[in-house]
Amino acid sequence: MNSISQQPVSQKMVYLNGEILAIDDAHVSVMDRGFLFGDGVYEVIPVVGHKLLRQHDHFVRLQNSLNRISLKNPLDETQWQLIFDELLEKNPGEERAIYLQISRGVYPLRDLAIINDELVDGSAEQYPATVFVMILSVKKVDLSVVSAGIKAITIDDFRWDACDIKSTSLVANVMLKQQAVAADMDDAILIKHGYVTEGTASNLFLVKDKVLITPATGHQLLSGITRELVIDLAKENAIEVIERPIAQAELSEADEIWLTSSTREIAPVIQLDDKPVSNGVAGPMWQQMTQWYLQNKQALL
Ligand code: PDD
Repeated sequence: MNSISQQPVSQKMVYLNGEILAIDDAHVSVMDRGFLFGDGVYEVIPVVGHKLLRQHDHFVRLQNSLNRISLKNPLDETQWQLIFDELLEKNPGEERAIYLQISRGVYPLRDLAIINDELVDGSAEQYPATVFVMILSVKKVDLSVVSAGIKAITIDDFRWDACDIKSTSLVANVMLKQQAVAADMDDAILIKHGYVTEGTASNLFLVKDKVLITPATGHQLLSGITRELVIDLAKENAIEVIERPIAQAELSEADEIWLTSSTREIAPVIQLDDKPVSNGVAGPMWQQMTQWYLQNKQALL
């Protein structure tokens, strides 16, 4: 299930390194380290109307990703905001998401080592980062469609030990998602050394005896903004939440399984491998959490 539908490319206006351009006119050098190595980070921020949802949290995570790869944020919050405002104006739509990407930029050599020019004062000057922003059209979440649920397979999580970085190096996620699609499933639930990590582009929650369980954050998974919100909503409503390792075997005993992300929101898994989850329908805790989630979204507007 992919909730992002791209609008016709010709209509799309994007931001690239200081300019607002038609997407067809936006070009990046073949020597860009983002292109050569996936040496960059990104964020996806949901937008409803003209309102960015949980912008602050996305910026905190962006800064964390930048810190982890030792890259300076090339723009301040006001500069980012001006770009978002202009692109949202130029790419109308009801439910959208901002995709922003920062790569380390264009370097003279294809060399893993990061060479910076030494300035007279001995400090190192970074080459300018490549900054790209576009607006994604997101299909409005239709509860009757979402409640039909999704089918997932479990696959070995062979990704690296730095999944907390929202890195553009996503070839492993591409391979894992492709494996799910080839098996005629909507997504994959990833298993590392016998324990659940997350989905290919989402976090995982399991419901057991009315308790919400999700793997704790760390280097094995992305600290999802939607994950944090779901935890907060549960606690506000006196639902017990436990962040702890989830053994693969617990999945088949779960009352409910959900996958969460900014664009997918909360998707109930109704089939795992060849077995139904919660009797093959979205469960009651999902119904309840979705109501809280939608109320929270409404209150932000
Ligand atoms: N992905 N885990 C991974 C690996 C992800 O790529 C994502 C989101 C999440 C959920 O994070 P959040 O709730 O902040 O969206 C977890 C975005 C949507 C993407 O790559 O398009």
